[in-house]
Order: sequence, then structure tokens, then C-alpha cells
Amino acid sequence: MNTKPESQSLAAWVEETREGIDSGRFPVRAFNDQAVYDLEQERLFSKTWCFLAHESEIPHPGDYVTRYIGNNNLIVARDEHGEIHANLNMCRHRGNVMCKAEMGNASHFRCSYHGWTYKNSGELVGVPYMKEGYEGRLKRKDWGLVGVRVDSYEGLVFGCLDPEAPPLDEYLGGFQFYLDLYLKHGLGGVEVHGPPDHWIADTDWKICTENFAGDGYHTPVAHQWGFHLGYFPSSGSTHSQGWAVSIPGKGHGIGLGHGPNFPPFGGFPDDLVAEMKQSLSPEQVEVFSRTRTAVGSVFPNLSFLMQPFSLEPGEIGVRFVTMRLYHPVGPGRMEMYSWCLVPKNASQEYKKEAYRAYTLAFGQAGTFEQDDFENWTKVTQAAGMTMVRDVDFPYIMGMDSAPDPEFPGPGHAVVPYVNDTNFRNLWSRWADYLAGEV
Ligand code: FES
Ligand SMILES: [Fe+2]
Repeated sequence: MNTKPESQSLAAWVEETREGIDSGRFPVRAFNDQAVYDLEQERLFSKTWCFLAHESEIPHPGDYVTRYIGNNNLIVARDEHGEIHANLNMCRHRGNVMCKAEMGNASHFRCSYHGWTYKNSGELVGVPYMKEGYEGRLKRKDWGLVGVRVDSYEGLVFGCLDPEAPPLDEYLGGFQFYLDLYLKHGLGGVEVHGPPDHWIADTDWKICTENFAGDGYHTPVAHQWGFHLGYFPSSGSTHSQGWAVSIPGKGHGIGLGHGPNFPPFGGFPDDLVAEMKQSLSPEQVEVFSRTRTAVGSVFPNLSFLMQPFSLEPGEIGVRFVTMRLYHPVGPGRMEMYSWCLVPKNASQEYKKEAYRAYTLAFGQAGTFEQDDFENWTKVTQAAGMTMVRDVDFPYIMGMDSAPDPEFPGPGHAVVPYVNDTNFRNLWSRWADYLAGEV
């Protein structure tokens, strides 16, 4: 790939990128470029199912949060009947922002410009001077807030801007099997532990999605202090054991890292292990009981991680789950949303410990988080240099890996855990969207 993108049309560059992925190459330019960012807004975020909120963030009628799909700001609200809606946060009269708070509870939203009022479902109910001004010409039912499709899986609420896109279930395409580890490890499901931490970072969202699609390769190096000091129950040299699983043609991927001598479901309290054996299928139990680290990405920009983290060095650690959303806000720039999920029925003591382990490792100032962002911001800076415009990265690890025929879960599972298979699948899906093929 020696042609300079400046002399190519963007469409030709996307085509060349698609071909490159098949032979294990991916262009650096993709990670920090205005034209690529614009194309993602137009062709990717307008068509994929994007994560909006966890149901436990808006448990009661009237509860709402404001969130994004691409550059579209949405009000995600539970109406008076308990149904969840996502509506564009824009007044239909002249476009004012309807809701300026990030979260709260309201039965109605009243515009601060001319006073149009909508129910939390998005229905227009109040128009000042309706009779005198509009003389019967304005029909309220025609001018509600602009809604988007909403669907959910195990408490995860997703939205989709494309009315023609396949349903969420089909979009997830079997990845539900792996999501269950994060979402059903207690009989009552999970809940968020407080509102998400969120912050802006000079990092491209795709670098994070890729890392969480199973980059076990970086862990012994980027987080080596964790192994050395005994906060992470394994050793760097044994870190490559386990599976990398991808859902072909969907872009989702997960790394299931094993630790030698790691006890089954190590780091979970006994009562939770008993619940897990009931809430998960025998195949899921077989896969997950040996898993020490599960790090996965739902295409395009939602990720999960579960691992034990030792509050005291040398201990087996406490299991925590983090869920994170990488919301793009410009080329090479994103807003990170980071949640801690805890089993709803777990003891308060376990919830507090799990939250503490999350905070120390993956909270905004968490040690793992700091290690990662230091690297991710540098990668993004490098991707913005003019000299790397025609440079590729190698994605050839595990190029010929055959799927493990014994693996009991869905998707394409390969060993070892350290492998580029998930990433090629991710980039291939991304490029299909950018080419307008999805
Ligand atoms: S812009 Fe909202 S009422 Fe006019
Ligand atoms: Fe990391």
C-alpha cells in the first residue's frame, strides 16, 4: 500500500483497506483522520446498534439520562408505563436543546425557548398560543420529538438510527453467550454501581474497542507492575493461555484468559458461584469457570472486562466487572464512559469490595486505566502524523489459526488467547460499514 491517501479518493482508500485486512494489514491513518471520522458518522454510527444505558440507571417511571449515538444527543427515558424511549434531544419547534441535565426524573420536558412541552415518551402535549397562533393547522401528533429504535438485552439498552437495520438479537449474533458472563453472574442480574465516570481523552475510540476485543498481548508489558507486585493472580509468562473468540461477520470479540492453577471461578464469593451455576448454561459454566480475565467488545464501541484484582498483594483478588463506552467526539478524540456492574442480589459488602477493586484498576485514576491511556494517546498522536499516511500495521498473528473444534460456545474460538483473529474480524466489519456494504 504505497499510494498516498491524499491522491486517492476516500472510497478507493476504504476499498484498499478492506483488501489489506484480508492479508493482515490495517492503515494507521484510520486512527486519527477527519475524513475517516466523518465517514464513520455517516455510515457506521447511523446504522449500528449503539449502547445507550443500563436499565438500572433509569429504574423508575420518569427517570432519564442523556446519551449519544454518534453526534446525536438523545434523551433516554422511562415513561409513566415503564417503557423506555430514546428521543433526539431537540425541540421540534426551532431546535433548542430540550433537556440540559445528564440525568434526572421528569414526567415532561418543557422547552426553555417558546415553551413547547413533551411527555417523557416524546409526545408533544403543550403548545403556547395553540388556538390563536396556529388556528387549527398544527397537529400535535405530527410534531413529537424525533424517536429512534430501542431494544435491550439483559438490561443493556441499545438504540439504532436505521429503521431498516436487522433486530438487536441478530446484530449481537451469538455474542449474548459471552455477554451473559458479565450480565448474569447473579440470579437477579446486575445493576450499575452509581453513575458512570466520564471524561474526554485524546484517543481514538477504535484503539479502545480493539484493546478490549481481547488484547491479552499488551497486559504483561503495559500492566507489568500488576504481575510484579502481586495484584494480578498469574504471571506475565503464563498470560497467553486461553481462547480468543470472535463472531465472524459481526465484529464482536472476546479474550478469555486462563491462569495456571487458578481455581474455578476464583475471586467470586461462594454464594455467587452457586448462583452462576444456575443462571448460566452448562456450556457457559464450562467456558467461564476457567476464565481469569474476560475482556470483550460489542461492535462498534461498547466493551466489558471482568477480572480479579487483589486489594492486598498476593491474594486471589476480588472479581469486578467494568462496562465502558467509547463515544467519539472528533478525530482522535473521544469521551469515555465507565461503569462498574455489580450483581443486584449480592451482599453490600461484596458490592463495595468489587467497586473498590474496579476503582483501583479501571476507575478514571485506576492503575490499569492510566497504563492504557498513556499508550492509547501516544498511538493516536502517532496516527495523526503526516508521514504515517501510507503506513500499515501488521495484523498477522494467528493468521492460519483453525477454530478449536472442542470449544462449546458460539463463534470462532482460537488458541492461544494472544492472537489477532478477533481484530481482523473487527476491522473487516468496520470497513464493510465504511464501504456502505452493510
Ligand atoms: S425552540 Fe422549543 S419551543 Fe421554540
Ligand atoms: Fe490494558
